[in-house]
This record gives sequence, C-alpha cells and structure tokens, in this order.
Amino acid sequence: MNDAVKLVTHAQNIRYDKEQEALYIIDQSLLPTKEAELRLQTVDEMVEAIRSLRVRGAPAIGICAAYCLYILARSIGETDPAAFQAQLRAYSAQLNASRPTAVNLAWALGEMERTAAAHAGDARPALLQALYEKAAAIHEDDIAKCAAISEYGLSLLQEGDGVLTHCNAGPLATSRYGTAQGPFFLAAERGMRLRVYADETRPLLQGARLTSYELHRAGVDVTLICDNMASMVMKNGWVQACFVGCDRVAANGDTANKIGTSGVAILAKHYGIPFYVLGPTTTIDLDCPDGSHIPIELRDPEEIKTLWYEKPMALPGVTCYNPSFDVTDHRLITGIVTEKGICRAPYTESLAKLFQSPPPG
Ligand code: MRU
Repeated sequence: MNDAVKLVTHAQNIRYDKEQEALYIIDQSLLPTKEAELRLQTVDEMVEAIRSLRVRGAPAIGICAAYCLYILARSIGETDPAAFQAQLRAYSAQLNASRPTAVNLAWALGEMERTAAAHAGDARPALLQALYEKAAAIHEDDIAKCAAISEYGLSLLQEGDGVLTHCNAGPLATSRYGTAQGPFFLAAERGMRLRVYADETRPLLQGARLTSYELHRAGVDVTLICDNMASMVMKNGWVQACFVGCDRVAANGDTANKIGTSGVAILAKHYGIPFYVLGPTTTIDLDCPDGSHIPIELRDPEEIKTLWYEKPMALPGVTCYNPSFDVTDHRLITGIVTEKGICRAPYTESLAKLFQSPPPG
C-alpha cells in the first residue's frame, strides 16, 4: 500500500474519543481547502452539522447519529427509566428529522432506540455502556461492509477501465474506503490502473470538493468534469462503467441518490455502458415498495443562486427548484453491489433474498 492511500483510507471522518467522551467529525463543508475537526456536543449542533452537510453521505450520517444519541443519552438527568426513554426518543426524533432521504439515519437511530429499550431495566452506567457499544458496532460494521463492497465492485472492472462516478461515496461519506469509490482505492493499493471521471455534482459540488480531493490524494487517476460533460466522455468511449452510491434503495430496486444520478443512468443506457449502484444493506429499505415512496429533500435555493459565487448568479426574485436527490429507475440499473454480493434484476427477488436468514446448520 502506498502512503497516500494509507493517509486517505485511514482518515477518520467521524472519531469518538472515549477517554474524553467527545465526538469529532471532519467538517466536510470546509474541504478541500481546509481540513478541520469539529466537536459536536449539543443536539442543536448535531442537527445543524447533519443539515449543513458538515457530516454527509448516507452511512456517515447514520454512524454520526448513533454516537450523537449516545452523547445525548449521557446528558439526560432523569432518574425515572420511563422518562429517560421518552427523552431519548425525543432526541432521536430531532436527529432523524435533520435529513429525510438517506434511510441509514433512521436505521441507525432505530438500532440505538432498540438497544436503550432492551436495557431499560439496567442501572444507568450499564445502559450507557450498551449504547456506546452499539454505536461503535455500527461504525465497525460499516468499515467491514465497505471493504466487502469495494471487493465486489472491483471484481466488475478490468485494468485500464474508465469509470464515471457522481457525488461522493468515498471514505468521507462512510467509514473507510467508501462504497462507489471504494474499488478505486483498492485498485490503487493493488497497483491496478483505472481512470476515474468525477462529476462535479451541482449544486453542492461533492464530486469536486470531496471525490476529486480523496482520489487525487490517494494517487488515483481522476479527471474532474462538469455534470453536463458526462455524455461527451461516454461518447468518446472513455467510460466502461458507472459506479454510484445510494441513499435509499426501494424493494423493487429503484434507487435514490444525489440529484443528477438518474441522468447519468439514462446516458449510460444510451451508450450501452453498465450502471452499478454500490451500497450497504443498511441503505436498502424493503418497507419502501418503489421509488415513488422515497421522501426527497428540498434544499435552500441560495445553494444554486449565491453560495459559490462572489456575486449572485440570479436575481433575488427568481424561483429555484433544488431537490437534493433523484430516483433512478431500477430498469436502468445493471447491478446493485452490497457487502453480501451483487444483486441483479429482478430486484424484488434478489434484494429480498439478502435479508432472508441462512438455513440452519
Ligand atoms: O447530500 P449528500 O452529500 O449527503 O448526498 C450523498 C450521496 O448522494 C451519496 O452518493 C450517498 O449518500 C452514498 S454515500 C456512500
């Protein structure tokens, strides 16, 4: 492994310091020009950090929220167990409302609430210890899941391939390696040459600010393009596969991911390029029958009009539509790569199978 790869894949975007009992995140809103940690202590700071994308990416949001709920549990003074559980659920609901699309947030908070309920009769130190262990387990588990996803993803690629990716699904968005970008780090570690095209990903530029930053630092051959150049690089024959992450996969395979992803899938279909979604099973929501049921976050128009510019790029009265995610139709998806393997159509069957318990013995 070369040093640059080590540096990036071992950077800790979410760090819980048990001695200090303190949660730190890398503030992603400052990248790529400034690397700084931010400590999260109050529920308002936590909600703000998630809403403002200081911590972002579906698995990372879930991991962070789990530690947040543990910290908040420590702060509850209530001695009555029922009142403690009620306050914990209220904090959980506040965190859960911070971003609606990525199902990992609700999933991780649900795991924490169930742990608290299972230990409701324990003395407070034992209950808190159980919550800490659950949050740390969610974190550790994501590291293992990302490693497995990266292996399966890499098995789909050949030496010298060009791969187009959208948004950021690397180490910053997860725990380590990442999902859709994980195979690129693995390839770099193994001396396999790939060419990556990173969409800049309007309007918040996760592709430019985060993906190109992570890959460039790891020594991966990455070329940054504007979103509207994807068709051109595909037409030029430079792209052999598209790898994207996911925020919620419905039972039929419809997939919500960063706005612009469905356009990439439509282009890939046109040019006959395989289009893969990579994500952990914690991003699959079997309770959601299809994409029409996925809540889509709408964000502030100023992200389009003023955020990145010295002068406004539109008059104040101009109406903007700023959905943060779109849904890619399952018929455009060649495969969904999870830590348990690669699912193919029909997704209603292949995704459901992932959750069936193995036969005994
Ligand atoms: O709004 P963001 O930056 O949180 O959106 C992130 C994405 O769309 C990612 O592709 C997705 O969360 C997968 S991260 C492994």
